[in-house]
Amino acid sequence: MTKPLLEWTEEHRIGIEALDFEHQDLFLHINNLLEDFVRHDDKDDIEICLGRIHKRLEAHFALEEQFMKEKKYPHYAEHKAEHDKFLDDFIDAMTQFENDPGVPHIETLETYIRQWMIDHVLDGDKAMSLMTK
Ligand SMILES: [Fe+2]
Ligand SMILES: [Fe+2]
Repeated sequence: MTKPLLEWTEEHRIGIEALDFEHQDLFLHINNLLEDFVRHDDKDDIEICLGRIHKRLEAHFALEEQFMKEKKYPHYAEHKAEHDKFLDDFIDAMTQFENDPGVPHIETLETYIRQWMIDHVLDGDKAMSLMTK
């Protein structure tokens, strides 16, 4: 079996049980969608896939933002801005893809989504965890 594109490991644990559980589910879900995404060459299938990735991430961000609000996290606004910017960039990338589909875009987008998620969990989400305990 080949290695998954996106895999949650202990390194990604932030120390908040509910969010760690959610991140594990999120990584698994996005991994499956990314694998589907890179495998497809049909433009419509790819667009459906990207739409699903966007939706799942949006749901995750909403959950995390709710948690931060409840905990009165002092850097809520900055953290939410990071989520929002990523979703905006994602929409831009989807539009770009619709206008000019192709393999290079798929690879770039796949790497970008994966890397952003890992970096955000390791950086923003971990920092948030340390300050909401
Ligand atoms: Fe997160
Ligand atoms: Fe986050």
